[in-house]
Formats: sequence, structure tokens, C-alpha cells
Amino acid sequence: MSKIHAAITAVNGYVPDYILTNQELETMVETNDEWITTRTGIKERRILKGEGKATSDMAVPAVEGLLRKRGISAEEIDLIIFCTSTPDMPFPATANILADKIGAINAWGFDLQAACSGFIYGLTTGAQFIESGKHKKVLVVGGDKMSSIINYEDRATCIIFGDGCGVVLLEPNTEGLGVLDAILKSDGSGKEYLNIKAGGSLMPASHETVDQKLHYAFQEGKTVFKFAVTNMANVAAEIMERNQLTSEDVNWLVPHQANKRIIDATAERMGLGPEKVMINIQKYGNTTSGTIPLCLWEWENQLKKGDILILAAFGGGFTWGSVYLKWAY
Ligand SMILES: CC(C)(COP(=O)(O)OP(=O)(O)OC[C@H]1O[C@@H](n2cnc3c(N)ncnc32)[C@H](O)[C@@H]1OP(=O)(O)O)[C@@H](O)C(=O)NCCC(=O)NCCS
Repeated sequence: MSKIHAAITAVNGYVPDYILTNQELETMVETNDEWITTRTGIKERRILKGEGKATSDMAVPAVEGLLRKRGISAEEIDLIIFCTSTPDMPFPATANILADKIGAINAWGFDLQAACSGFIYGLTTGAQFIESGKHKKVLVVGGDKMSSIINYEDRATCIIFGDGCGVVLLEPNTEGLGVLDAILKSDGSGKEYLNIKAGGSLMPASHETVDQKLHYAFQEGKTVFKFAVTNMANVAAEIMERNQLTSEDVNWLVPHQANKRIIDATAERMGLGPEKVMINIQKYGNTTSGTIPLCLWEWENQLKKGDILILAAFGGGFTWGSVYLKWAY
């Protein structure tokens, strides 16, 4: 019997309706459209508005749409891996909340937190359960309501992040299609440059932590940029070399959307022209775990069976990595 690979057999996404433009940000912090556009490539991002709306509320329409597309019921799902840095609550896991909301009564699930590398960590983890033969249908969800942890008085972060959610379904494939290789890395010494200081066991929530705005995301952008631009490009090049892939072989780079300059550097290192790079950062900003599946969703109609995709991400932790896969439909 030929080896079982985990193939993506369906993809879907959801972005909230509200559009936060650079022009609106100009009225909130000292910034301008020209600065944001040239430094990051971002023009607008989506924001989930409304009381009582959480990350799982973006996942529900994304997953329900995916199930309809694939023509399967929620009861057929074996496992849900919910990649997020903005869970609905510290516990229970958002995967459990999502399972309840969609009626995935036969699934187990867990949340996976690897900041902006969440989706590629989750995809690689989900693939193991398919490759082992243990499961037949695994949902990997990447979604973040970043607006819930952003200080809209901090121009270092509020211009970058947005809300959104993407999801893929993994199923077994014996034709050599699906996830073929992954390189995942981490370096916890990066924690000081990108973090949320309060609200965890180190610094539980108190009046003081709220007053000091320590429940918001903090980023030292310059340092993160330097690590990101080198490591994302290196790991994408490394996975190509390890699999003897040339730039001609690769059909698509699917990069995490943190900064257009980081994406461009990665594509250049891989020898890819802009026509092979999925970029939607101008519309959505950085949706953390959502970026890569949202790209796959948007480009789905252009993808062909057998296409070679390289996924690459870098994020808080630091975490980073790359996935090599062959598109299965
Ligand atoms: C955040 C980021 C866009 C900032 O760009 P940068 O080129 O590093 O900018 P700097 O922080 O060095 O700031 C440059 C200048 O612009 C100013 N500036 C910073 N933010 C600004 C803003 N939103 N609007 C206008 N000016 C701003 C700074 O004060 C600084 O001014 P100075 O030169 O007078 O001191 C960039 O560092 C970045 O993308 N970092 C990585 C993000 C990332 O990949 N995260 C990992 C995954 S989540």
C-alpha cells in the first residue's frame, strides 16, 4: 500500500464586514496612509464588531461553508485543531466551543498557540493524525480576533493587525498529494520582543495590569522584523533544498502576511517572481493564524491538482517554519 499523506480537500474563510482603513487610523493615532503602505503594504484590515462576538464566531461560518462545499456533515469530523492566540476564553478550548456550535459531536479537539506560525504548526500536527491512519477527517482552523488584544492608541501594533479566520479539511491521500514535508522551529528567547505581559500565570489580571494596558499585544517591531525577514526566507529556502525543488518547480509561495517587505524578501530568496506569491495583506493586514488559510481560500480557484505550494510563516515566540505540499484538487 502506498504511503498515506494528509491532503487539503477543502478550504474556506471568513472575514468580518467592518473595514478599518489607513485613513480611519489616521484619526486614531499619529500615522499616515503613506507610512503604513510603504512600511507594511497594508491599506485596510477587517474588524469583528459587536458585543459578545469572539474568535469562534468567525470560525462557525468558515467551517459551515467548508462542510457545504465538501458535502459532508459536522458529525463526520474526527478532530478540530484550532490555531489561535485569541481564544474565546483561557479555557475551555475554542476548539470545544466551535465543535459545540457546529454540532461536531464526534470530534475531539484542542487549541494550538504558536502566534503567527499557528496555522503551519497546526497543519503539521493535523497531518500526523491522518498519516498515522488514526483519523480520516481533521479540521485545521486558523483564526484570530486580534482587535481584542490591540491597543488602538499604540501605533506600533494597531496599524498591522486585523481579524479573520480560515479553515482547511485534511483527508488521507495515497496518490502522493498533500503535506509532504515540514520544518518547524522555535526560539523562546524571542519572547521579550513580541508578547502580552499580563493575563497569564506570570502576571494575573489586576486593576494595575489593566491600568498599565498590559493585556494588549506588545511588539518591538524593528527587532521582530530582523528575525522575521531572515528566518522566514531561510526556512523556505531550506525546505526547497531538502526536497530538491527549484524555483521552476514551485507553483506558489503562501506566506504569512505580516509585512509585504518580509514576503518580498522570502520570494526573492526562493527565486520566485511576484506572479507566484499569494499576497492579500493590503486588504486584511496580519490576521495571525488566519493569514495562510485565508490566502488558500482566496486563491483556491487558481490552484490545480499537483501544484507545489510552499507555506512559510514567522511569529511570536519566536516561532517559524515552512510546509511543502502538493495541492490535491
Ligand atoms: C512594525 C514595523 C512595520 C515598523 O517598521 P520599521 O521600519 O521597523 O519602523 P520603526 O519602528 O523603525 O520606525 C521608523 C520611524 O517611523 C515611526 N513610526 C513608527 N510607527 C509608525 C506609524 N504607525 N506611523 C507613522 N510613523 C511611525 C517611528 O517612530 C520611527 O520614527 P523615527 O525614525 O523618527 O524614530 C516593522 O518593524 C515590522 O513589520 N516588524 C515586523 C512585524 C512582524 O513581522 N511581526 C511578526 C509576525 S506577527
